[in-house]
Amino acid sequence: MLNPTSIDATAEQERLHVPAELDASLRARQAWISPKFLYDPLGSKLFEAICELPEYYPTRTEASVFAAFGGEIARTVGTGSTLIDLGAGNCAKAAGLFPLLHPAQYVPIDISAEFLQDAVARLQQRFRHIEMHPLGMDLSGPLNLPDTVRPERRLFFYPGSSIGNFTPDEARDFLQRVHAQCGHDGGLLIGIDLAKDHAVLDAAYDDALGVTAAFNLNVLNHVNRLLGADFDIRQWRHRGFYNADARRVEMHLEAKSAQLVSWRGGSRRFEAGEWIHTENSYKYRQSDAVGLLEQSGFAATKVWTDPQGWFAVIHARALSH
Ligand code: AVI
Repeated sequence: MLNPTSIDATAEQERLHVPAELDASLRARQAWISPKFLYDPLGSKLFEAICELPEYYPTRTEASVFAAFGGEIARTVGTGSTLIDLGAGNCAKAAGLFPLLHPAQYVPIDISAEFLQDAVARLQQRFRHIEMHPLGMDLSGPLNLPDTVRPERRLFFYPGSSIGNFTPDEARDFLQRVHAQCGHDGGLLIGIDLAKDHAVLDAAYDDALGVTAAFNLNVLNHVNRLLGADFDIRQWRHRGFYNADARRVEMHLEAKSAQLVSWRGGSRRFEAGEWIHTENSYKYRQSDAVGLLEQSGFAATKVWTDPQGWFAVIHARALSH
């Protein structure tokens, strides 16, 4: 059943912390904006558009792995679970697995509560027999699941290599929090983008049409609204590239000119050429991905990849506490 109150309550709590968090990150010596602010309603739509781009291989490649191994994945993870979709977005990936996994309950979680609400309302029409409990929640905070989420047979679903948007330490902390919610028979089905040719990565995060640039720049629109700031979007340019030393793609916004930016309770002068760091997207070797899961209390039961070895889908069961 759709339960909009749980969305509103958690989203409201989140709103209370936002101004202080943004104020601090914009004042930091190296200014940064948390990537979670990329996902306002327009940002979520731009991300959907990114997933359609020829250069952005992760979505397509992951989908090809699910298409090739769907039956085997279902046999490995089992049916009738409580499917908890972390960072659900438009819920399309999980919905694609419903006919294979037949979940008893579906719990999509996303920071963009408004976007999620619409997606779940549509989905509930198509799958009336599945209990649905959408939750508006920031996954960088505590993972507190309400009592409405069944404790047994929890299968956490974390596709799209969103784990790559955490640093490896943050990723471990996050996965440990997921593990703590798994109970004695829970597990995790996760998609992780793997290390590959630098040129492929550079193009994926700086596409010819400029959709990723719009996605990145739109974070300033969102900050303008959240903080009453006056960022002039035209005075910033997108930077997206692979940093081999750090094993991650980085996104930044670069000031085209010197400028003063003001917001409620603060201001900062940015010099021409100064950067605001907006996102990291870590790329793992398969063995490191499996190691990360082990450090977080999971044991990988099976790894599926595409023929080029660009993307891994891993099932891991939670080891006892
Ligand atoms: C959501 N996340 C896994 C995407 C990624 O590839 O790191 C976000 C993204 N940033 C730029 N393009 C896509």
